[in-house]
Amino acid sequence: PGGGQQPPRGLRYETVAPNVDDAVRVPPGYASNVVVRWGDPIFPDAPEFDFENQSAAAQARQFGYNNDFCGILPLDGAGKRHIMYSNHEYTLEPLMFRGFDEENPTEEQIRIGIAAHGGAVVEVVRDRRTGELHHDRAGRLNRRITADTPMVLDGPAAGAEVLRTAADPTGRAVLGMIGNCAGGTTPWGTFLTGEENFDGYFASGPVTDPRAERYGFEEGPSERRWERVDPRWDLAQEPNEANRFGYIVEIDPHDPSAKPVKHTALGRFKHEGATVALTRDGRPVVYMGDDERFDYVYKFVSDRAMRRGNSRAAREHNAGLLASGTLYVATFTGNSPAAEITGDGALPSDGRFDGGGTWTPLASTTTSFVDGMSVADVFVFTRLAADRAGATKMDRPEDVEPNPRTGKVYIACTNNSDRGKAGEAGADEANPRHANQHGHVIELTEQGDDPAATTFGWDILLVCGDPADPSTYFGGFDKSQVSPITSPDNVAFDQYGNLWIATDSTQALKINDGLYGVVLEGPQRGSTRLFASVPVGSECCGPVVTENFALVSVQHPGDLDDASPEQPASHWPDGGASQPRPAVVAIRNLHGAIGV
Ligand code: FEO
Ligand code: CA
Ligand code: CA
Ligand code: CA
Repeated sequence: PGGGQQPPRGLRYETVAPNVDDAVRVPPGYASNVVVRWGDPIFPDAPEFDFENQSAAAQARQFGYNNDFCGILPLDGAGKRHIMYSNHEYTLEPLMFRGFDEENPTEEQIRIGIAAHGGAVVEVVRDRRTGELHHDRAGRLNRRITADTPMVLDGPAAGAEVLRTAADPTGRAVLGMIGNCAGGTTPWGTFLTGEENFDGYFASGPVTDPRAERYGFEEGPSERRWERVDPRWDLAQEPNEANRFGYIVEIDPHDPSAKPVKHTALGRFKHEGATVALTRDGRPVVYMGDDERFDYVYKFVSDRAMRRGNSRAAREHNAGLLASGTLYVATFTGNSPAAEITGDGALPSDGRFDGGGTWTPLASTTTSFVDGMSVADVFVFTRLAADRAGATKMDRPEDVEPNPRTGKVYIACTNNSDRGKAGEAGADEANPRHANQHGHVIELTEQGDDPAATTFGWDILLVCGDPADPSTYFGGFDKSQVSPITSPDNVAFDQYGNLWIATDSTQALKINDGLYGVVLEGPQRGSTRLFASVPVGSECCGPVVTENFALVSVQHPGDLDDASPEQPASHWPDGGASQPRPAVVAIRNLHGAIGV
């Protein structure tokens, strides 16, 4: 490839051909195995999975449904034992139960759904001989978190009137997390997870409060009818309960008894994920996207510096890092004349979709910077604060993640079919394509390479799609040599600083989703190289790329229109006549390190 040159270190593999197979495909010389899948027991006394005889009690002791984000931390110095965290974003009852009646689920089906949400902490062991990774059901740190697990609200809005309920007059104690999509791994050894599509879990009467409308709440029963077993999911009965969801949650994987913490200081919106950079003086900066059409990119800058080390004092100090700081929202300004942004993807005359931008402060722990909104208002109704700040409406910003090697921040704008529609925002230089079906990736460079800077530059790295489509752009690289890519969702970086992108496209290019390595430096910048594809109907999430293995989360395999246990669209991973099961997959190079 690439003018006779080979790809940079870390990306030296034969690309996988796009396909629609009911299988995980990896390059020649590589192999994959399932680490853990829906229903696998994660405690010594947990029951084995039985699709035909499920129960909520069993599910609460087994790996949950629809694993999305995946994070991993070493537990020893030998690369053998790790601790892994997976989100269980949402459930797909029509695939989980035979003959499922959406309007009349049984009480046990509802309770299984509640127990299948949340997340899981599992110890995983790498077999030195085979190189495979498997979960250890006897792991001391294993833990299930569900939509009923006790949690803490902290930060500037904790205890506010709008967070108090009949069951919790303190406004600081909440049960469960829902819609947990992507996340991040912190330098102080915890995991962050974003509550994303929480609106659909609440039943409601007529929605008249513009604050609730802005978050998408609708009149009628909830999607999964949880209000039938617990009235807190009904806004008519408990109007403030919904204000207690939509946060970044921090999980300490080293202490299974530690309550997860919902950080109000990071704002409330449809959080995709949260990833951390450190300032030169050690303060964490957290980058975040609000994954909705025409919503925003945010960052939080902590007041406090991280303490190094694993002492009790350091851990207690670091537990407070995300409780206090300043929340900002991004405005992107193009440097080409607006008339040159035509919406069809044609590059402006300077040859780049690029420009500058500002981070506008919305509130700090003590001060609101938005007229007419209190500090608590800003942190609970963050979307309205960002609207008033005039931030740039983006094409569904999913992962926003700094490259640990360069500090540059990559923003995956997954797609936005409504861009340019009548009554909606048209193309701008940072979102340059109307009816943006395939998404794009923005590279953001903070002023002075300081993550706490209030101004930045930016440059679009990829405008995704079929390379034969003239509206696509691959960093200026030769389009005949790239893999087609659509709907970038999650991003990760390897030890060399290469970008990795996982996609979620509902087959927008009629190919399965996958994990792509992307060249950032040198003459092949913008080259996308398909490394792994995931089974039919699934999206590829949660990538982790280390020297010895890569992890992908296979979410909702078999999720095609009208699929059901009677008509499965996938039999992955168990094969035969089995039902599809979401799972985490490990990929290894049979002859060496990943991509070398
Ligand atoms: Fe759960 Fe934004 O994807
Ligand atoms: Ca330009
Ligand atoms: Ca996502
Ligand atoms: Ca997604």
